[in-house]
This record gives sequence, C-alpha cells and structure tokens, in this order.
Amino acid sequence: MKWVPKVYTGEEINVSFTPALCIHAAECVKGHPQVFDTKRRPWIIPDQGGADAVAEVIARCPSGALQYLRKDQRPNELPDAPTVITPTSSQQLLVRGDLRISHEEGELKTYRAILCGCGHSHNQPFCDKSSICKGEGSK
Ligand code: SF4
Ligand code: FES
Repeated sequence: MKWVPKVYTGEEINVSFTPALCIHAAECVKGHPQVFDTKRRPWIIPDQGGADAVAEVIARCPSGALQYLRKDQRPNELPDAPTVITPTSSQQLLVRGDLRISHEEGELKTYRAILCGCGHSHNQPFCDKSSICKGEGSK
C-alpha cells in the first residue's frame, strides 16, 4: 500500500504525503520549515503556515509526493499546460502537467512527477535514486 498517501489535516488546507514518491530533500523543508520539519512528529503541520504559502511550496515539490486540498474555498492546484518534461544531468525526467502514470499497482494521477530515465530504479517508472542515478537531494 505504498501509494496510499498520509493526510495531515489543517483548518484551511489539508496536506498529503506519499513517501514512495519522495526522493528529493529541498523544496518543502527549505520553503516552509515551520510547516515541514523532518525532525518533528508529525513532520507536517499545515496550520504552522498560511494556506497560500503552504500551497505555493507544495506546488514546487517536483516529485508529487506532496499534494494539497484547500478547505477555504480558494482554488486548488491546476496542471501546467502544455505538459513539460525536463531531463536532468542525472537522467531523471522531471514532468509537470495533467499526468496519468501507470505503475505496478495501478495508476497515479498527479500534476508533478520525477520519472526514471536511467532504467535502474526499483520503483519504476519513478526515480528512486538507485544505482547510477545521483540526482539532487537525498532519500
Ligand atoms: S520531493 Fe517533495 S516532499 Fe520530497 S523533499 Fe522534495 S519537496 Fe519535499
Ligand atoms: S533516473 Fe534515478 S533511478 Fe533512474
């Protein structure tokens, strides 16, 4: 059940996190350290930040591990259009758009993903930073 996200509930915004997709230590903890703190449990507390700021940081999460649902009548995330695929120097493929990605347990609907371009990931089609891949961040 690795694709089932854990939901962190806030007053104005709920945040969900899928650990199997996260391979990148950057945007969330740097973007809003009061909300995202890996040294704390729970590591995500949505009410430690304004909903707009939380949404803005989550939209930068390249893997799609973080998602949000607004509860304050403000608009939710929209996909990039057209879809954009950006290869990195470590053979990852950063993808942003209205995505439907097949995997061993079904299909993932997301607007953001980091796909494996090296062929060595054990979490296909997603990059897991295994083997020869030395992408940004750390697991
Ligand atoms: S992939 Fe997303 S959840 Fe994981 S560290 Fe990067 S910004 Fe945070
Ligand atoms: S590109 Fe990272 S494991 Fe393949």
